Amino acid sequence: MNIVLMGLPGAGKGTQADKIVEKYDIPHISTGDMFRAAINNGTELGLEAKSYIDKGALVPDEVTIGIVRERLSQPDCDQGFLLDGFPRTIEQAEELDNILSALGKSVEHVVNIEVAKEELVKRLTGRRICKVCGSSYHLIFKPSKEEGICDKDGGELYQRADDNPETVNNRLEVNIKQSQPLLDFYKAKNVLTDINGQQDINLVFADVDALFKSSRN
Ligand code: AP5
Ligand code: MG
Repeated sequence: MNIVLMGLPGAGKGTQADKIVEKYDIPHISTGDMFRAAINNGTELGLEAKSYIDKGALVPDEVTIGIVRERLSQPDCDQGFLLDGFPRTIEQAEELDNILSALGKSVEHVVNIEVAKEELVKRLTGRRICKVCGSSYHLIFKPSKEEGICDKDGGELYQRADDNPETVNNRLEVNIKQSQPLLDFYKAKNVLTDINGQQDINLVFADVDALFKSSRN
């Protein structure tokens, strides 16, 4: 299955992606995660991306498209993939179509996780992430058993640099503006499904899973 996961910052893309890739055994391709890994490794890509991410702005299309093109050409994408946070502009969406058609593929599902803005602010500012495995928690909605410590491996939990209130507001503004044209783009192609993201994490996944199952029958 070739899947695109859409949703505003904090909608639960990463949370649902973890569940989807575990069940369907496809690679999780998150441009945000790729940029953060590059920042941590101090690469040239990381240096360039950091200046945009810290402001809550989008990284330029040519940079973002380049890393996705390279990633989608890897053999582990042959049986499908889950794109999380890409595309975010019409140019990225058009380029994705070009990349996939050159590989004899196309986007089968675009899942749009819908959550109200006020809820997104709470989710982003309360999010905490494990330094070791990257698992995501929330101070209120998904607390770890021991405060500040990952349930899975005892790693220390930290707050993402772009989850401070000011950057959160910029990210939401930028993404709200960009998302409608993209939703229209995929609606016209008949591959878009809206999912209610404002319910329990497992219920959101049940809806996503039901969609994938129904399309396979
Ligand atoms: P990226 O890393 O993609 O961030 P984002 O889109 O802002 O989304 P998040 O990762 O913050 O949220 P999420 O939807 O994954 O939510 P999560 O599951 O963690 O991008 C970061 C930056 O990189 C961008 O700002 C941009 O600069 C750059 N970038 C990336 N892609 C780009 C592109 N294509 N083009 C240009 N630039 C790009 O959940 C959030 C919190 O809520 C967690 O604490 C979680 O536990 C909790 N939660 C999740 N689901 C629920 C639920 N159902 N109920 C209650 N709580 C929940
Ligand atoms: Mg994410």
